[in-house]
Amino acid sequence: MKIVLSHYQARFLLDQRAQRVLAVEASLDLGRTLCPVALTPHGVRAPGEEFISWEMLETLAADENGCYLLEDDAAGEKTARKIQFYSEQTGRVYSLYPTSGAPTMLVSGLPMHRIKDTDPYQDTREKIKAARPAGHVLDTCTGLGYTAIEASKLAAQVTTIELDPAALQVCRANPWSQALFDPSGHAPITQVIGDSFEQIAGFADGVFSRVIHDPPYLSLAGDLYSLEFYRQVYRVLSRSGRMFHYIGDPESKSGRSTTAGSIKRLEQAGFRHIERVPRAFGVVAWK
Ligand SMILES: C[S@@+](CC[C@H](N)C(=O)[O-])C[C@H]1O[C@@H](n2cnc3c(N)ncnc32)[C@H](O)[C@@H]1O
Repeated sequence: MKIVLSHYQARFLLDQRAQRVLAVEASLDLGRTLCPVALTPHGVRAPGEEFISWEMLETLAADENGCYLLEDDAAGEKTARKIQFYSEQTGRVYSLYPTSGAPTMLVSGLPMHRIKDTDPYQDTREKIKAARPAGHVLDTCTGLGYTAIEASKLAAQVTTIELDPAALQVCRANPWSQALFDPSGHAPITQVIGDSFEQIAGFADGVFSRVIHDPPYLSLAGDLYSLEFYRQVYRVLSRSGRMFHYIGDPESKSGRSTTAGSIKRLEQAGFRHIERVPRAFGVVAWK
């Protein structure tokens, strides 16, 4: 059993101890599932004879910004490793950042999902509602795989592209990303490592029914907002295909101007109808 904890789960267990609870259902996978645990004088005993000391839980509860993978060292003692990776390829640091729901990923300090007044999975559901996955879906930016995973529940096939292998290392450690590696029952997800801007040129005309385009901020990935890229999306979409394009808060100054610029370029690329979807912080463009 892979144990991954943040201050939310650690704090919950410490609170239970303060109330002298002896047994409780708790999450040991960042809130994804619950399991029965026993509270002992020295720590928490979980299924599979796993044991986490109170000292370790106090350390984890003190860090509000990290998620930790608990592993056994050579002496059989639990050690906590912060889920954070440096990418030699891009010079960026990728880390898992806890919320009260699913975690998000910070890329050089910036969250890759909305977390203000929502959580990363609610954010994902809004994107999926706007995209209406069907047929073969192209997900241009894997990130934590949430859009690819949710799309695979509705589509026949999903292809997802991630620029940085370090992001996939974060996915491997994240309990909420596991379906990316084992879709069990849902549509197959094909993972591609590469730059979407380059990779998209290699797909045949009209092969995708939907494109979910959830790029980083414009300042981090200008190419993915360019006319050239939108032309490629238009080309790989089937005749009645459509793209959901996450852009950013339409009420913010930068979101407003990026949305206006993107809509103009999408029209130039040939999209016949473009609808703003403020709830999903993006637009839907129909071929
Ligand atoms: C906003 S996140 C995507 C979140 C994702 N939809 C999810 O559900 O978790 C953006 C991701 O795109 C990746 N990325 C940045 N530039 C890229 C590019 N040119 N091609 C493919 N992926 C890229 C980043 O490393 C990051 O993981």
